[in-house]
Amino acid sequence: MKTPRYNFLVYFVAFISALGGLLFGYDTGVISGAILFIRRDFHLTNVQIEVIVSAILIGAIIGAVVAGALTDRFGRKRVIIGAAILFAIGGLISAFAPQMGTLIAGRIFLGLAIGTASMTVPLYISEMSPPAIRGFLVSLNQVMVTAGILLSYLVDLSFASSGMWRYMLGLAVVPALLLGIGMFFLPESPRWLIKQGLLQKGREILNRLHSPPLAEMEMKEIVASLDVHNYGMISLFQKKYALPLTIGIGLAIFQQVTGINTIIYYAPIIFEMTGLSSNVNAILATVGVGIVNFLMTLVAIQFIDRVGRRPLLLIGLAGMILSLGSLGLAFKLAQPSPLLGWITALSLFVYVGSFAISLGPIFWLLIAEIYPLSVRGKAMSLATFMNWGANLVVGITFLTLIQSFGSSNTFWLYGFITIGCWLFTYFLIPETKGKTLEQIEDLWDTL
Ligand code: BGC
Repeated sequence: MKTPRYNFLVYFVAFISALGGLLFGYDTGVISGAILFIRRDFHLTNVQIEVIVSAILIGAIIGAVVAGALTDRFGRKRVIIGAAILFAIGGLISAFAPQMGTLIAGRIFLGLAIGTASMTVPLYISEMSPPAIRGFLVSLNQVMVTAGILLSYLVDLSFASSGMWRYMLGLAVVPALLLGIGMFFLPESPRWLIKQGLLQKGREILNRLHSPPLAEMEMKEIVASLDVHNYGMISLFQKKYALPLTIGIGLAIFQQVTGINTIIYYAPIIFEMTGLSSNVNAILATVGVGIVNFLMTLVAIQFIDRVGRRPLLLIGLAGMILSLGSLGLAFKLAQPSPLLGWITALSLFVYVGSFAISLGPIFWLLIAEIYPLSVRGKAMSLATFMNWGANLVVGITFLTLIQSFGSSNTFWLYGFITIGCWLFTYFLIPETKGKTLEQIEDLWDTL
């Protein structure tokens, strides 16, 4: 089969806006290494450390709540530019913070930007993409999230000997500026314009993005979908949208309560628990986690439009279940030893790789494609809010769970929850590959 050629503009749009994903990854990842030196300089207690680390999640929760209404009112493009400005301000405040309070304020600003960008970027890319490569383009955002996390580990590593945490935090200002300036030159989402009644402008942009027949077909479908579904937020709570709503909220929570960020945020601590001999090994193993996460996300985007969302989800979730099982077993059977260290490392790599081909990209992709246009912003906002809320809950309970419940039981608990997620996917999630957003909208009428 001959692969059709797509306009350069659609790739450019995805790449520039996905810098928002890079910042999401970098700003959440960088603190794990930086906090060691901030603790030394500001003489922090454990509680103060927890506040600094979770400030970003609190900001993200608030950002996610407001972003939906903002994207519906001001458009996708302006909101992403606003997030870029917040990213830059938050980065500067954090890097120059003279004391703890200022640093917390900076981290809350960054959180607001992350919460906003985490939903608006996939939404924007999804509305700009031709259906046949929408999975690939939207998931470029997740590729950038994982690139940002990896970059933050590497930056932490290279500044570790000098302890220059201000550089670690401040470097994020560069991609923030690139995002803001780049977005300025990109077009607004045609779907949002059409919804605002700006039909001519919407049509022009569709024509710039797509081949003439596709642009014409999308134009017709968008207008028709607005005629039928334009009831505002209320329409989301109709019976026929119960399923997309359940899928979005369910996957949002599952993406977090299956444990990914216990690894992304605490990998060095987990490696230390296994007795992996030195700090250096623990940090190197952490970089390994970052590399696997990034590479497997690259693999996922090759298959997401060909194999489809459902098979990738089911295969990846199965890999997560097996690796969580073996992780728990390793902690149950062995005393801290080199063997335990290796089994743990291997299980963690399989776990992270399996997440990277499934829940990582596919949660963000699905919530950007399953909701009707009239409520898309608000519905995504709700799912994103649940995602950041669940992230916070896992973050503040993980170390306590390990202490009171034991490490093997904790990982097995995540394993059982992942079995729940597999069943949820198998029974509830339809395939969306290759369909236009409007065809997906109609899907809920026929199910
Ligand atoms: C999740 C983040 C996670 C990241 C890891 C994202 O899809 O939302 O919570 O840290 O993947 O790659």
